[in-house]
Amino acid sequence: MEDRIAEVAKLLAEAETTVALTGAGISVESGIPAFRGAQGLWERYDPMEYASIDAFQANPAKVWTMLLELEDLVMAARPNPAHQALARLENMGRLASVVTQNIDGLHQSAGSRHVVEFHGSGRRLRCIDCGRQVGRSEIMMSEMPPRCGCGGLIKPDVVFFGEPIPERAAMTAFALASACQVMLVVGTSATVAPASHLPMLAKRAGATVVEINLDISQLSQGVSDYVFQASASRVLPSLAQAVEQLAAE
Ligand code: APR
Repeated sequence: MEDRIAEVAKLLAEAETTVALTGAGISVESGIPAFRGAQGLWERYDPMEYASIDAFQANPAKVWTMLLELEDLVMAARPNPAHQALARLENMGRLASVVTQNIDGLHQSAGSRHVVEFHGSGRRLRCIDCGRQVGRSEIMMSEMPPRCGCGGLIKPDVVFFGEPIPERAAMTAFALASACQVMLVVGTSATVAPASHLPMLAKRAGATVVEINLDISQLSQGVSDYVFQASASRVLPSLAQAVEQLAAE
């Protein structure tokens, strides 16, 4: 692995623009379960019953039971060495942006400044009727489901299945994917569009795709140029260290 880390470090040292695309796998070691796979959240909650906008509107109190469990995990979570390594790469000027599918805010907590929240943020709440952003302290969880003063339903400002990707996030992410020379793809099964299209877009634009994932994903054969089948908190700190050493030479 060390040889391939050295090769990728050289690519990052020379690239004008490197972008990271992250998924739930990067936050697993912060205590937030991924969605798919053995311990995945979707093994316990059917996403079509708990993570689609139709299900939310049909039975908001039921969906809020899952949301409160996820909220507890997110609030208790701290960035892990993988998040910190991406922030280090950004501080070295070797990572332009993190496009994340995660809603946990851990990249920002780790110090990353350029973060595109492709699926929104669980740290914000919004009324689905009037669109007003609602502070967490404004709502009493004793009243389920929480409602806005306008009577509308309040939900975390995250993208449910059946909702569009926030326009600005989508535009920024696609522009970054089209312009980068290297894309690090970390902790994602690459099964949910349109986020899953970003690595292919980067590849078609001539970028080198570097995948870091515990399992083989849909990208591993045919899209990823490098596949590190290992945990993000093992590979990314080694990669950041190798880039730092090259910069010191
Ligand atoms: N290091 C690296 N990869 C890991 C780790 C780890 N420590 N732990 C798990 N993984 C990998 C798993 O092997 C899996 O392939 O992370 C991937 C997580 O895949 P998913 O659970 O499908 O998560 P993600 O790809 O982010 O899901 C995309 O689906 O349900 C929607 O909106 C939700 O944003 C989410 C989207």
